[in-house]
Amino acid sequence: MSHVQDVVFDIQVWWTRPLRSAVRHVGTLDSDERARFDAYRQDDDRLRFLTGRVLARFAVARRLGTDPAEITFDATCPDCGKPHGRPRVVGAGNVALSLSHSGDRVGVAVTGGVPVGLDVEYVNRRATDDLIGYALNDTERAAIATSDPDAFFTYWARKEALMKATGHGMKIPLRSITVSAPGDHARLVAASDAALDPATTTLLDADPGDGYRAAVAVLTGDPVRLTERWMSNTTA
Ligand SMILES: CC(C)(COP(=O)(O)OP(=O)(O)OC[C@H]1O[C@@H](n2cnc3c(N)ncnc32)[C@H](O)[C@@H]1OP(=O)(O)O)[C@@H](O)C(=O)NCCC(=O)NCCS
Repeated sequence: MSHVQDVVFDIQVWWTRPLRSAVRHVGTLDSDERARFDAYRQDDDRLRFLTGRVLARFAVARRLGTDPAEITFDATCPDCGKPHGRPRVVGAGNVALSLSHSGDRVGVAVTGGVPVGLDVEYVNRRATDDLIGYALNDTERAAIATSDPDAFFTYWARKEALMKATGHGMKIPLRSITVSAPGDHARLVAASDAALDPATTTLLDADPGDGYRAAVAVLTGDPVRLTERWMSNTTA
């Protein structure tokens, strides 16, 4: 009798805070990354970017069983050719990753064989009516009217994780995506973009700690297993 075994995609999410100690890794940046690092005007943005690259090299190296110094990224933007797009791992096309930074959090999601998107949001403000109107459709606006005001950020993180998994980013209008209500388990309900089919998309909430909302999207209907860990200061 044949036995069909489910594929399980392992998703590893690594979190850290922007690391002052990451400065000693500036030399590990390639020339494109170094140019981006140098171009940031704000120290906080520069440190978040550098920490993202340190964390991404660490996470990918852990997955591949190699040294972080061996990992090279290609972040060529498919739209304009500049090196600010979604990074892919040179020489390991099966590995997929997604980076996100917000406030005092930097995260990376790593998996294999399936596109992944990660988004973290710092809940440091009240969502304005303009922002709510930009991001949420009628059903979702009605849902947040009766829930915790910070629920907006759960919607935002879930939708942005989905957009990032497709690689299209903000080109997909947020209002064209409908996700489950913040109190319900994360799920894509509907989307007008062909890349986002509820039958072949998995959405999960992640936990970067108090004051933050985060979500991970994976473009598969097969089972996924999410593991979240923190990279320690001493590792970097
Ligand atoms: C991807 C995007 C949604 C990021 O949003 P954000 O909330 O500002 O930032 P986050 O910290 O959550 O994510 C940023 C990371 O997303 C990744 N990223 C960039 N473009 C991406 C894309 N099209 N799809 C998925 N991920 C992308 C990068 O790794 C980036 O971090 P890095 O620059 O340090 O490597 C937004 O930048 C976007 O829509 N970009 C694509 C379209 C665009 O504006 N292109 C520029 C003109 S050609």
